[in-house]
Amino acid sequence: MKTIILLSVAVCLVIATVIAESNSKQQPWMNTNLDPKDRARALMNQMTAEEKKGMLYGYGCQSKEWPYVGNVAAIPRLNIPSLKYNDGPQGFRDDAMPGSTTAWPSGLTAAASWQRETLQAWGEGMGKEFYLKGANVQLGPGVCVARIPRNGRNFEYLSGEDPFLGYVLVQDAINGIQSQQVVANAKHYVNNNQETNRGSVSENVDERTRFEMYYPPFVGAIEANVGSMMCSYNKINHVYSCENNGTLMTDLKVRMGFDGYVMSDWGATHSLSIEQGLDQEMPSNNFFNQTNLDSKPQHAIDDSVVRILTGFFAVGVMDKPNPNQISSNVTSIEQNDIAQKISENSTILLKNVNEALPLQKTNLKVVVVGAQSWQPVVHGGGSGQVVPAWVKPPLWSICDMLGVDRIDPSTGTLSKCSSDNGNCVTYNDGSQNPPGTASKDYNVAILFIQTSSSEGSDRPNLSFANGQDQYTTNWGQVKGNSFRKVLVMSTPGAVLTPWADGMDSILLNFMPGQAMGDAITNVLFGEVNPSGKLPLTFPNKENEQEMAVAQYPGLQNGENATYSEGFFFGYRWY
Ligand code: GLC
Repeated sequence: MKTIILLSVAVCLVIATVIAESNSKQQPWMNTNLDPKDRARALMNQMTAEEKKGMLYGYGCQSKEWPYVGNVAAIPRLNIPSLKYNDGPQGFRDDAMPGSTTAWPSGLTAAASWQRETLQAWGEGMGKEFYLKGANVQLGPGVCVARIPRNGRNFEYLSGEDPFLGYVLVQDAINGIQSQQVVANAKHYVNNNQETNRGSVSENVDERTRFEMYYPPFVGAIEANVGSMMCSYNKINHVYSCENNGTLMTDLKVRMGFDGYVMSDWGATHSLSIEQGLDQEMPSNNFFNQTNLDSKPQHAIDDSVVRILTGFFAVGVMDKPNPNQISSNVTSIEQNDIAQKISENSTILLKNVNEALPLQKTNLKVVVVGAQSWQPVVHGGGSGQVVPAWVKPPLWSICDMLGVDRIDPSTGTLSKCSSDNGNCVTYNDGSQNPPGTASKDYNVAILFIQTSSSEGSDRPNLSFANGQDQYTTNWGQVKGNSFRKVLVMSTPGAVLTPWADGMDSILLNFMPGQAMGDAITNVLFGEVNPSGKLPLTFPNKENEQEMAVAQYPGLQNGENATYSEGFFFGYRWY
């Protein structure tokens, strides 16, 4: 009997091998032993002219038929799935189902950890949710080097102001994302360093400055085998990025050796620039379409198709169909906990005197000041914004840590105490001025302040609006031997801190994501040692580097920005 079973197993194995062999002979591109680029070329050679052209443009954006942010039709005949792109650099943005995905710490926030394993965990956590939403491209990470402190998208970019930091950390983010059968997208290539007039400004940068200051994060992405890149809205040296032969073809594809593909930013295609280095128009087909592409040489079309397919073979999209749908709810307690850990690792302690931190957990009389403690802003705005299902307020995290019943300011009860441990928590939305001297009611004030920014515009200044700077100054003047003042600030990048001398401790968590409450509370009470470090410089005043208008936002009403500072911006200037 056993012999019969063994024999039949052997026969099955032989049959399976024969089938696999014949498959690989009939479909060599399905041979996983081959290099992804060779597999891509083998498959491209099976495609008709129309099928090839049909891969070089988008079919729609967030419509019923095409629900993702970017969509390319499938080719069922060849088992090529539809390409499903979605924003953004800090998680899956689902406008139709807000709350069905995790709002992760932003790119700059993750970078503040300066920990490669944190960037890997960030990429993996995000990539997993893109996969579970059925997507096969994440439109991130954002990697532009922070040249302008007020740039509205600095919060999304994991380089901070240093090309080498970006070069290193981008690799772990991309490895994390692409480990989840999702192609990553390094953006925005290149010199999208301001939002002012982003769709028309010419960023005028010499070759050496490009290669030594702005290209390195993209080089790091190439070394991590990133599958795709996104060319930007702006011009570089008076030529639009998505039709710029110098930056796309010469620099990126030839000199840096990028063998993935370049998609345009949404609406950033200005011509049928396939021979200048653009491989795919997004989100539609104004220039790249069946008719127009007939005017281009076949080798150029073939090369773009191979570039697109290479990344999809490399991460496994072509070998394992993804059955998931965009309508899935993919966030979870586990995902939230990973996001919390990343926020904890990215929290920066900028000041701590008079042993103010860590706070004690008994006999603590604390006043929590500022709306940011109750309804916190945890992410920046624009295409990369992810709206979380729920954000636990830091005020509740502090109550939980101290064993005090949660205060809900909307009920009017603003102070509660524990009968067990001598702890009391009071909430002050910042509108009530502090007392002249510390009363006996509390021995520490924790101030929460925030400012944010968004894609599409630069910040008007580096200050905190809505009277936050003022009340922080006021609280800083409260004196009292045992009274301490601790400040927590959430920002999209650099800020001015004129009230710093009045604070005993200052913590920074950038755009910390949905798990901010428990993350910052663990740092405040010493459960976590704050180990984050600044990825960009906080200046002492507006435009401390004295950039002329010609440098930023640029002459001709922000249409012509010249990088005459070369290397000397951020810490290199100081
Ligand atoms: C936007 C952004 C880009 C985003 C794309 C799709 O304009 O610049 O980062 O991925 O369009 O929303």
